[in-house]
Amino acid sequence: MRRLGCKEVAESILQKIKEEARRLERKPGLAVILVSHDAASETYVRKKEEAALELGFEHRQHTFEEDASEDDILALIDKLNGDDSIDGILVQLPLPRHIDEKRVIERISPDKDVDGFSPVNAGRLLIGEDAFIPCTPKGIMHVLSYYGIETAGKDVTVIGRSNIVGKPMAALLMQKGADATVTVCNTKTRDLRAHTLSSDIIIVAAGHPGTIDSSYVKDGSVVIDVGVNRIPDSTKKKGFRLVGDADYDSFAERDVSITPVPGGIGLMTVAMLMENTLESAKRRQGL
Ligand code: GUN
Repeated sequence: MRRLGCKEVAESILQKIKEEARRLERKPGLAVILVSHDAASETYVRKKEEAALELGFEHRQHTFEEDASEDDILALIDKLNGDDSIDGILVQLPLPRHIDEKRVIERISPDKDVDGFSPVNAGRLLIGEDAFIPCTPKGIMHVLSYYGIETAGKDVTVIGRSNIVGKPMAALLMQKGADATVTVCNTKTRDLRAHTLSSDIIIVAAGHPGTIDSSYVKDGSVVIDVGVNRIPDSTKKKGFRLVGDADYDSFAERDVSITPVPGGIGLMTVAMLMENTLESAKRRQGL
């Protein structure tokens, strides 16, 4: 097995962003909106804040209680859309059930939508125009390139069809320049193993531990594990450990390259958010 750790690549990207941000007249500004006290969301938001502060970005966090009204969130987004010191607006998902996620995301100005979740950016990505690209798929493209993994002409299976990972991942891989042959699987897929066994690259973003193990892959293949699952573990200080969607240990004796969890794609997601925020700041300063 070859471990495709992402710490080095994420750190080298962050270092470049830091140097570029320093040369700007005005520091990049990121606003993060969190609704609820979901433990996983709080962790993600904290990691984004740490990265933004480390890079010298302006960082603002707005935390709403679980019972916040949709109108209050929309009003904040309107205010941030008109705030010249803010280049990126991110609403941490998922939102509580009484809030219309679609309406909230659509309210973010497309030129501050550094998550790339708005219909305008999703559409632009699909037709190959300049867009904010969702951070996780964008980070995966960086990792493939960093490790010299070619996508052109390769058979790639994406497991999961979310708007955050699966769909934009497929759109990126099928674009001219990436030139992969892409299959997107979902929970109704009849024979997942048949698809993965014939694939050169497998991107697993199903949100379930053990979605694939070594019996799902052929020799020489690459597995990109997007899953971040908390498994109760009383031997850990926090009471849980993190595992991906792939059964990592099962690959130990195989000729397979695989990203670990933790230390894998999660690091790239944060780095790409910073890259998109820098990109937005540059655009908005006419650079
Ligand atoms: N929830 C899970 N992943 C993401 C992400 O990349 N961005 C936001 N805003 N919420 C998420």
